[in-house]
Order: sequence, then structure tokens, then C-alpha cells
Amino acid sequence: MRIAVIGGGYVGLVSGACFAEIGHHVTVVESAKEKLDVLINGGVPIYEPGLEGLVHSNVSAGRLQFCANISEGIKDASVIFIAVGTPTRKEDGRANTEYVFNAVRDIAQNVKQSVVLVTKSTVPLGTGDAIGKIIQEINPDVTIDVVSNPEFLREGCAIEDFIKPDRVVVGLQSQNAREKMEQLYEPITKNGYPLLIVSVKSAELIKYSSNAFLAMKVAFINEIANLCESSGAVIDDISKGMGLDHRIGRNFLQAGPGYGGSCFPKDTLALINIAADHDCKATLVEATVKSNDERKAQMIDRVLYACGGSVKGKKIALLGLTFKEGTDDMRDSPSIPLAESLIKHGAIVKAYDPEGMDVARTILPSEICYTNNVSTALHDADVAVVVTEWKEFCGLRPEDFASIMARKVIVDLRNIYDKEEFFAAGFSYYPVGSVP
Ligand code: UGA
Repeated sequence: MRIAVIGGGYVGLVSGACFAEIGHHVTVVESAKEKLDVLINGGVPIYEPGLEGLVHSNVSAGRLQFCANISEGIKDASVIFIAVGTPTRKEDGRANTEYVFNAVRDIAQNVKQSVVLVTKSTVPLGTGDAIGKIIQEINPDVTIDVVSNPEFLREGCAIEDFIKPDRVVVGLQSQNAREKMEQLYEPITKNGYPLLIVSVKSAELIKYSSNAFLAMKVAFINEIANLCESSGAVIDDISKGMGLDHRIGRNFLQAGPGYGGSCFPKDTLALINIAADHDCKATLVEATVKSNDERKAQMIDRVLYACGGSVKGKKIALLGLTFKEGTDDMRDSPSIPLAESLIKHGAIVKAYDPEGMDVARTILPSEICYTNNVSTALHDADVAVVVTEWKEFCGLRPEDFASIMARKVIVDLRNIYDKEEFFAAGFSYYPVGSVP
């Protein structure tokens, strides 16, 4: 099939490359000249494992191309995806849908053939209806079926999540849209991955509900981690013991410094507003947001405690800055409030992250010094603080720290190390969710 994807950002580029990989002909429309130039020259403007190779091979095979404007990109398409951003609106916490509606207007003004128009962007409940009305006003003569097909891609594993999804959710209302969407995803569903067909509104809400539920799971286990620290129970055992119950499941019960990224923070806030618009309460989601904000703000206390109450003049090595491993994304990362507090409390901070430092330089306090590798960050440090669970850090042994640090103190906000091993090597080791 011939597909157009409007937006060459994270979701658009991954989806476009993956649709090409499963055999479709895809044109990705990217209006930002800088990004488009990178793509046309064979590069990828974001970090996602495997994406560059996938883009490259599909461009070479003639199944993937890029262009700057919508009218050119959609000319032969039978399915058009909108994959532009819906960032949080600062003034009220709602999803900003202006880029989505701009794309819809542009498509409606330029499309000449019948198409299925699909939102991949995360859009508030009722956006599908609003899109339908705009199209009807601008171009009533062409048949345009509006569909919602939310993405469930995790940064760092997005390609696998696309090709081997837990489910593909499609919200639609016409037989034509159903046939097109089934045909589009057939290379995936034929391998046994389920396609769930629901109404447009239900699909829109499945996306928000899924992210809010996962965020709630993370916030919940972090609260239990605090209780473990006060009571002497051990969080990793609690997670195992809970997770073995199939009704609960093992995933997303890893205690840490609080969730971040571009999705959970944005979508939980948006869901609270969506509920309010429908005169409903989202008490649990509100509590989740509050709990997570508090969690991130509390991480400084752990470093203060490990330093005996003050970090003034102490040399702190921050290991990891991105909101999780496998991405260069710094958005809403727990490292941000932590780094800011450390500087405010007078610490001397050296930081290392395998992928996030370019962006970190633009948002973290200017006093932070960045290093090219872990050893330089650890050199002469009083305390090492693990903020992100990069594999590179997981492989470090006590001797890797002991040989270069001034003092043997580790605050592990991701519980990546074996506590006993570090105790045995003479470290003061502070994990989350268990008594040090
Ligand atoms: C999330 C969802 O997992 C995807 O399904 C969804 O498509 C995506 O948002 C989106 O809406 O686009 P992502 O933000 O990439 O994906 O990251 P996750 O892997 O879900 O992690 C989110 C946050 O929770 C991270 O800060 C992570 O460190 C934290 N987390 C996750 C924990 O602290 N503990 C866990 O057990 C799991």
C-alpha cells in the first residue's frame, strides 16, 4: 500500500520506517528543514537503536522517501498518518493539538483521492470527531475516513514494539477503513499479534488509559519502596512477590527515581483534563502525578543522607542523565531536579551519560561538568549517584569504583548493583527500597 506519514519526529519516523520494512511504500513529510536535510542525506535526527539501519535499508530498497510538503507527500497515498507532536500546553496541562489540526486542514485542502486519515499522535478524546467536522467543512466532495491508531512504542525498543506488538489498536467507523487497516497491518497480524478494532473514541482513550495505568504502577511501587526503607522490607522482593500474580504482572514494578520522558508526564496531565471536560474525576491519576513529582524532588535527600547531611563542596559523579536507558531523551528526567538541587546545595557535579549529554548541556545548570566516560566522572568523586540504568553502568564492579573514587559511597537510584557485593568490598551503598 502507499502511505503518507505527516511528521518525521520520533513516532512518525519509527512508524514510517517500520511500515516500509513490512512492505509498504511510505513517504514521510517533514516540514522542519534541518530535520529533513538530515533524513534526505541518509541520517536520522533522533537516537533509537536500530532505526538508522532500518531507514537506510528501506530508502535503498525504494520503499521509504522523505519530502517537505503535505500536498506532494499525500498525492498517491491511500492511507495518511498524522504523527505530529501533541506537547503539554504550559498554561493548562492540556495536550496542544494545534499541529494535528494544522495537518488536517492542509490534508483536506490538498487531497484529491479517497483516503483513510489516521491519527497516530496521542490526541484527546473527541479529536477524531473534530477532525471529521473540519474535513467536512473544507472538502465535502472527497471521502475521508477518520481512524485512530495510537502507538505503544517505548523509546529504546520502538522497532520491536512496532513489529511485535502486544496489540494493534484501531478505532474506526466504516467498512472501508476496516479493510484498509486490516490490509495495512496484515504482515504483523499474520504472525499472531492481535488487532483490536474499536470505536474512534475508545481507541483514543485506550492510549491515555494505558500510559496513565503504567505511570500509576511505577508511582505505586515507588511509594512501597519508601515504606520498605522505613520498615526493613525489601522492595525487589516485594516486586517479585507481587509480580508473580498474573493479575498484577511483573513489568513496571521496578522502583526508581520516578518516571519521566515525553509520554507519562504529558499523558497523565492530559487525562486529568479530559476527565474534567467530561465531568468525571481522575483522582488516582491526580495522585499519581503528585506522588511522582514528590518522588523526583526527594532524590536529593538520598544524596544528602549519604553525604552525612551536606553536599557542600562534595564531588558528586552523576551516572546517567536521560529518563531511562536506550534513549537520548532528557524530557522530564529525574536527573533534572536532582542536578539542580545538587548545584543549589553547593555540590561539585561531574556527569556522564552515553547519549544524553548534548541535550543535558542545554537544560541542566551550567556549573555541571560533563565527562567523556564513566571513569573520568568517577575520578576523585566522594559519591557516585546512579540515575539511569544504562547497561554500561550495570556491568561495573566494586573495584571499578574503588580504584578511582576518593570515597567508597554509592547512591543507586535504580538498584542495578548487588548490595552484598558492594558491602563486602567496603562500600557505603544506598539502594532504593531497602535499608542500606
Ligand atoms: C511509554 C509507554 O511504555 C509506551 O507504551 C508508549 O507508547 C509511550 O510511553 C508513548 O506514549 O509514546 P516510554 O515513555 O518510552 O514509553 O518509556 P517507558 O519504558 O514506559 O518508561 C517510562 C518511565 O517509567 C521511565 O522514566 C522509566 O524509567 C520508568 N519506569 C518504568 C520505572 O521507573 N520503573 C519501571 O518498572 C518501569
